[in-house]
Amino acid sequence: TIAYAQTALPKLAVKPTYRVCFNQSEMDNPWRLAQTKSMQDEAKRLGWQLVFTNANGSAAKQASDVRSCIAQRVDAIFLTPREEKPLTPVVLEAKKAGIPLFVIDRNVDETVAKPGRDFVAFIGSDFYAEGQRAAEWLVKSTGGKSKVIELLGSTGSSPAIAREKGFHDYIAKYPGIQVIAAQTGNFTRDEGRKVMEALIQAHPEATAVYAHNDEMALGAITALEAAGRKPGKDITLVSIDGQKSALEAIIAGKLGATVECNPRFGVKAFQTMKDYAAGKKIAPRLINDDRFFDTANAKAMLSSAF
Ligand code: AHR
Repeated sequence: TIAYAQTALPKLAVKPTYRVCFNQSEMDNPWRLAQTKSMQDEAKRLGWQLVFTNANGSAAKQASDVRSCIAQRVDAIFLTPREEKPLTPVVLEAKKAGIPLFVIDRNVDETVAKPGRDFVAFIGSDFYAEGQRAAEWLVKSTGGKSKVIELLGSTGSSPAIAREKGFHDYIAKYPGIQVIAAQTGNFTRDEGRKVMEALIQAHPEATAVYAHNDEMALGAITALEAAGRKPGKDITLVSIDGQKSALEAIIAGKLGATVECNPRFGVKAFQTMKDYAAGKKIAPRLINDDRFFDTANAKAMLSSAF
């Protein structure tokens, strides 16, 4: 680590076309599909060759996908790491091999691999702020009083870590808001539903749900309705992503609000790479500007959601 830290980032030549890797973590929810489509569409528009890999939810497979991209000597690598720690070593390996790497959406372990030093840049949303924004809305809409079930994202992933911390740091100032149970639903609708089926049985006193993504919130709504609860009436839900079906759930009065986490990375990611090749100074952290959806704007924003 120390040896790599002292070396400069790999250079990138200006070329009419590039061959780049995009290492996806999984393809099991609308957010991942939208992110992949955005990368593929932009590569196509630019006439670049995109080598796409799907780790199918396995951090170990994703690490070997990145290693295979290094072995193929692609021009650059775009990595959306499933979990922080298991994907950190391959970031350092890409640098050692002289291949510029961009971390997009989820992050690696920055205590070991730093943007601007070990990889070109981190491009993505501020997950901590997302957790805070969800908490802020919940505090306001429940008058600072609720018993919350938290559906966590995939364990060890940067959004799950920061969305949990952002939310908990915010509610620490509001003793009337208590998280009474928390369990992972792995960012999927089906697991969100199953986990909520069990948790609402164990905690019928719950009055709110904070889900780390929309898919789990939508699964939770199904489970709550099956348990005889009335989402949006006797239980308040807030989540993150801003996908179309979540905005529809807001319009239907079931989901209270969702914080946007924009999955459309294609244009920004490849433009940053072109700027890097052109020798422009790249900020180590390029943070997306995300919107917020609730009953006030869900209808108007529906057509712009993924
Ligand atoms: O990393 C972003 C998160 O990953 C999104 O919130 C979620 O839907 C996706 O799987």
